[in-house]
Amino acid sequence: MTRWQLATATGYYTVSLAPGGVGLVLDHWGPDADAAPWTQTERSSFGTAPDAMPLEYAAIGTRQVEGAELIVTHDDGLTGARPKAAPEVRYADDGTVSRLEARFDDVTGRISWLTVLESSRAHDVVRKWVEIENTGSGSFELSRAFSGAWEVPVGPGARIDYLGGRWAQEFTRFQASLPAGELSLGSRQGITSHTFSPVVTVSRTDESADTSASFAVALAWSGSWRMLVDAVPFRDRVRISGGVDDESNVITLQPGERFVSPEMLGISSPDGPAGIQHRWHDYQRSVLARSTGLEHRPIVYNSWYATEFDVNLEHQSRLADVAARVGAEIFVVDDGWFVGRNSDTAGLGDWTPDPTKFPDGLDPLITAVIDRGMRFGLWVEPEAVNPDSDLYRAHPDWIYRAGDRELVTCRNQYVLDFGRDDVVEWAMEMLRSVLADRRISYLKWDMNRPVSDGGRPGDPHGREWSVQHARGYYRVMRMLREEFPHVTVEACSGGGGRIDNAVLGLTDVVWTSDETGPRDRLAIQDGFLTAYPASVMSSWVTDEPDRLDLEPASFEFRFLVAMAGVLGIGSDLLQWDELTQRRAAELVRRYREIREVVHTGLVVAHGRPVDPVYALEYAGDQLTCLLVYGRSGRPTDVRLAPRTLSPTARYRLRGTDRELTGEQAAEGIEVPFALASDADIVILDRVG
Ligand code: GLA
Repeated sequence: MTRWQLATATGYYTVSLAPGGVGLVLDHWGPDADAAPWTQTERSSFGTAPDAMPLEYAAIGTRQVEGAELIVTHDDGLTGARPKAAPEVRYADDGTVSRLEARFDDVTGRISWLTVLESSRAHDVVRKWVEIENTGSGSFELSRAFSGAWEVPVGPGARIDYLGGRWAQEFTRFQASLPAGELSLGSRQGITSHTFSPVVTVSRTDESADTSASFAVALAWSGSWRMLVDAVPFRDRVRISGGVDDESNVITLQPGERFVSPEMLGISSPDGPAGIQHRWHDYQRSVLARSTGLEHRPIVYNSWYATEFDVNLEHQSRLADVAARVGAEIFVVDDGWFVGRNSDTAGLGDWTPDPTKFPDGLDPLITAVIDRGMRFGLWVEPEAVNPDSDLYRAHPDWIYRAGDRELVTCRNQYVLDFGRDDVVEWAMEMLRSVLADRRISYLKWDMNRPVSDGGRPGDPHGREWSVQHARGYYRVMRMLREEFPHVTVEACSGGGGRIDNAVLGLTDVVWTSDETGPRDRLAIQDGFLTAYPASVMSSWVTDEPDRLDLEPASFEFRFLVAMAGVLGIGSDLLQWDELTQRRAAELVRRYREIREVVHTGLVVAHGRPVDPVYALEYAGDQLTCLLVYGRSGRPTDVRLAPRTLSPTARYRLRGTDRELTGEQAAEGIEVPFALASDADIVILDRVG
């Protein structure tokens, strides 16, 4: 039997053709190239043979009992699809990249689908997607057109690790034990959402979960989405599938039309969920990010929390004075800079500087910022519009609306229909004119509401609105990359409402949450880092009291929380006295000593943020750093054992003349809490 092997950095994804040619089946996924295939069929209840197979992609009509990824209804009422027995399979391996394409033609000749699998020896991610084509003479509807499935032997049942939450509480870690049944996660709101992040990890349900194989699957998609984890009772394999949301989208294909699904990404780790995190980070840094250097992850000062909508030249210039003094590398003016924008009720859509706030335009402020040695950045929200704006008055037809149904505002705004070419063209032109001839090198791109009543009644493709919206957004992001490569882009959506592996491929940093209260933020970041890297995790120091997190924390603690990723400052700097400014400048200097390892090192968490002591270890070749967080009241006798040191190498504890081997350090290093009573930094320099 022909088997095809897709090689990754540390493993192999091996597939073969299912009996009867109805699809590809997963034989094995792990470090061993010669491993015997996993069991390929299992008992099914009254099912047909394909119901019992670990198919990479299945249609209702091919499987009859178990779940499937493709649900098609033809215009004459025929439902389902079943491929002819002899698919066309193409496999290529150039020593780095392995790629497999298998084309399945339905027996009726009306529909075909191409399953594509791709891997690279440069990282551990297997990429998978499908291209569905209408090869007949009538149209059909796809009420589900998922990207693929991954059927892995962690069962019966699964332990599922996933991330969810809500506004200001994104990326909370959840764990479900699913002995049997289906877990459905997703978004119906046209953006990735605050509610769930499109990534799951499955492991065994027994005590071997942390030491036996785990598998993680993510969607690289920023529109509405769905992921299912299906644990069929008593079955050894668990099926993870997903793609564009099947509740809020219906895809229609006319003869000759094609739908290309978003990519799904998968990782296998022989050593439990811990190995998953590093493999995600590695892929996101080495493949998705356009660079890992400092150019696109500068230390930001953002004036939002200091001024909200009350921005003007004089006040912003005074903030810029202090921002430069404490070491900010870029000064970003958030919301409120454009005409008519004095609150969230008006102005959105009218992207010219407000003449009452900036009588001579933005240039005097840009000059003031650049003269102080910083770069300049701006906040924009191109996908939304206030009813009270010239843009809406001129183009009331540019927003999503469901016929005559009353329009729904959220934060007093509507969403522009990015499924329309003219609207996307407008957004690109608007950004070109904002950026042209101005020395702007940073954009914080926001999206402050979900899409409601998406769609375009009367348009046969109107029910694909979330696919079209996401693709319109991607087009604009790609334009920014191509035409303004010097502009760093920070992705934001009311905090972390649109963060996923597609966004990571088109932006530089992401605003994880609007919650900056340090202990809440630490929990958000702890979850975020399980699936996304520190090199994109924008995080600011802000003032106390926080609106939500009222537990006191020292100034240093707040800095260390923000230093865990891409440091920024969002405080009202004019309230900082000389001493505070000097202390901040010193902490920024300390961050510069460690930021390379923070951005590029291997990250290991010690404990959880709710513990009396929690630490993040960042490991590089020459330097390992621990950011240590205690609860209020100086913890005593705290010893931390770094987990990434090489046992025989020698390390010097920075700030002392103490030297020790990795093996000695692994017995525990005392944390003196010298920086503050609730926070400390421990740095180990490799000396031999
Ligand atoms: C959103 C963002 C904030 C800020 C405001 C401005 O809430 O998440 O950081 O930019 O919008 O209106």
